[in-house]
Amino acid sequence: MSFKKDVPAENTAEKLSLDSGRSSFSGKLGFVLAAAGSAVGLGNIWRFPYLAAKYGGGIFLLVYILLSVTFGFSLMIAEIAIGRKTGQSPIGAFKALDKRFTFIGVLGAIVPMLILPYYSVIGGWVTKYAFGFMTGHMAEMADAAYFDTYVSEVWEPIGWFALFIGVTALIVLFGVQKGIEKVSKVLMPVLLVLMVFIIVYAFCTTENVWEGVVYYLKPDFSKFTYMTVVAAMGQLFYSMSLAMGIMITFGSYMKKEISIEKSAHQIEIFDTGIAFLAGLMIVPACVAYDPTKLTKGPGLMFGVLPKVFENMFGGAFIGTAFFLMVLLAALTSAISLMETVVSTIQDKWKLDRKFSCLIVLGISLVLGLLSCLGYSVFDPRLFFGKFSVLDMFDFLTNSVMMPIIALLTCIFISFIIKPQTVIEEISASGKFRQKSLFTVMIRYVAPVCLLAILVFAILEQVGVIIV
Ligand code: TRP
Repeated sequence: MSFKKDVPAENTAEKLSLDSGRSSFSGKLGFVLAAAGSAVGLGNIWRFPYLAAKYGGGIFLLVYILLSVTFGFSLMIAEIAIGRKTGQSPIGAFKALDKRFTFIGVLGAIVPMLILPYYSVIGGWVTKYAFGFMTGHMAEMADAAYFDTYVSEVWEPIGWFALFIGVTALIVLFGVQKGIEKVSKVLMPVLLVLMVFIIVYAFCTTENVWEGVVYYLKPDFSKFTYMTVVAAMGQLFYSMSLAMGIMITFGSYMKKEISIEKSAHQIEIFDTGIAFLAGLMIVPACVAYDPTKLTKGPGLMFGVLPKVFENMFGGAFIGTAFFLMVLLAALTSAISLMETVVSTIQDKWKLDRKFSCLIVLGISLVLGLLSCLGYSVFDPRLFFGKFSVLDMFDFLTNSVMMPIIALLTCIFISFIIKPQTVIEEISASGKFRQKSLFTVMIRYVAPVCLLAILVFAILEQVGVIIV
């Protein structure tokens, strides 16, 4: 993601400028690639498959896709439009539109700070696996109990986490993101091809793989619960970086003549496509090797993939390449997350960039450490009898904060600035085809669904305590 460093901090500007001197993305593709580059990360490769496995396979996929083309799309274009109209980052954007609603921007700005630490813990796991594969430990790592044993150690996961967040901080500190982004843009298509190859290979060589394919693709309506919707909705926010101001920031760099509607569709297709493939790579293999692992949660990818690679000709090499690419995708996302928090802090308190960076690093180290220890020192079922510290950060951001922010954004658009404001901004770059869908979603469907989901999600967790 390209947050241009030469742009002056202008969050406090009151003006609703159409062209505030922000540098823009060079063109349509530039915008889509930058947004997709930040969107594609662990959310697609690590989070989506484990949720799909856990929440009923095909039914989760169906709900996810339906939500993505209706609600996700509406929220995404709304955020981009708000950003482009105001030309500001989230806090400034809400402030410029209506001072009383600045707090929505502030809430949104807190989310990346809570995601970054645990994101980096998983980044650390990926680094460990990449390194392990590279140094010939594939056979050990393919052992069914390897992952659980590994995370229950105290020091090693902390070390890999610290390395991951440390490298992220160094890149942000020295402002050398551009180099990494260039590399990742080449590697993204390679990752895609590699995933397709792994899927085809596994499908041709694994016994019983079709049973898992059916589980992943065929919706089983008896598995539908409101948790399917809660999980799919949270994943939608997470994966497309919605409800945390990211798309507002992107919009602020977007040129007037580029179609918001088309760009949003492209980002969506790209992001969902990668997630879908990751699911296809992991879920059927899991059913074939060990279906009890389906409910494994965050450890799923690490439990299943080494086994897939072990059974593959040249698996050590392909596995190394795969984990290295995932590492890079994770790194670019972590850089964007950190960059977002650093620039918010820098603007808000008028701090030096280096100092802001160190503050963010410090907070991340503390919060990430807690997540690491959640599998060793603390009980992995510390919260509600089922959540580890890492799960709790994940739940708090994806299932609580992001739905609240999305709900507030819908209310803000419906009643304060009116959908017309967004519609005008989108129409500025051509005909707005899905105008009616957008209006109905933002006005009625989204707020009602979000409220219901929020209440249910919280009740369920609290209910677990009471029972
Ligand atoms: N969407 C990213 C992923 O799928 C994760 C993410 C969430 C993110 N919020 C973000 C990335 C903000 C960059 C900026 O992995």
